[in-house]
Amino acid sequence: MHSPILIGITGGTGSGKSTVSKEIFKTIPQNDIVIIEQDSYYKDQSNLSYEERIKTNYDHPSAFDNVLLVEHLKKLTSGQPIEKPIYDFEQHNRKKETIKVEPKKIIILEGILILFEKEIRDLLDIKVFVDTDSDVRVIRRILRDIKERGRTLDSVILQYMETVRPAHLQFIDPSKRYADIIIPEGGYNKVAIDLIVQKIKSILYENK
Ligand code: ADP
Ligand code: C5P
Ligand code: MG
Repeated sequence: MHSPILIGITGGTGSGKSTVSKEIFKTIPQNDIVIIEQDSYYKDQSNLSYEERIKTNYDHPSAFDNVLLVEHLKKLTSGQPIEKPIYDFEQHNRKKETIKVEPKKIIILEGILILFEKEIRDLLDIKVFVDTDSDVRVIRRILRDIKERGRTLDSVILQYMETVRPAHLQFIDPSKRYADIIIPEGGYNKVAIDLIVQKIKSILYENK
């Protein structure tokens, strides 16, 4: 087996990173591909109360446990399994349980700050930026966070204005310069997703 290929998928919140990753995942046999979400690597905040945890800036690079993430990526790419943390968006904290992830030939890493972080960026073989207009992203986020992450409209808007938007402008949008591929509109851009899938299949199944 050739060494695993690490594909990084980044972009702003609501751009469609998680959706693109899942669409790619569905097309490849499950024995060959795994998705690692940077969200799983938010720092453990068990030492803080819920009231304190809702004040954390979750869009700042310091919110992530990148030491653990890099350690896990290196393990996976060298063929070793990991115990991936599980994140609870409603509690704003890592759960006590972890999930065992076996190494696979294709590893997708998706998250808002993976191209920003040089140490992570340097590990990536293919770098993708999902580029969706801010108005669309914020509407998607409002709907998703209310439906899936236990939030209110007021809390999503306040967080967006106070931390999400400033961090996007400062850290995430500028990281687009490092991308090999830019996907407009995200989630269901079939042509772009097909191109990436074809590339993955050519790596997996040609020159065997
Ligand atoms: P991200 O992980 O970048 O924050 P998601 O993939 O979770 O983004 O997408 C945010 C929300 O928008 C989800 O509810 C998803 O179903 C929806 N979504 C993603 N892509 C599209 C699209 N192309 N058209 C419509 N809705 C989309
Ligand atoms: O999937 P998405 O890219 O939207 O996930 C990252 C987003 O999750 C960040 O923009 C951050 O504001 C949000 N987040 C949150 N609450 C947490 C952890 C992350 O709203 N506890
Ligand atoms: Mg996501």
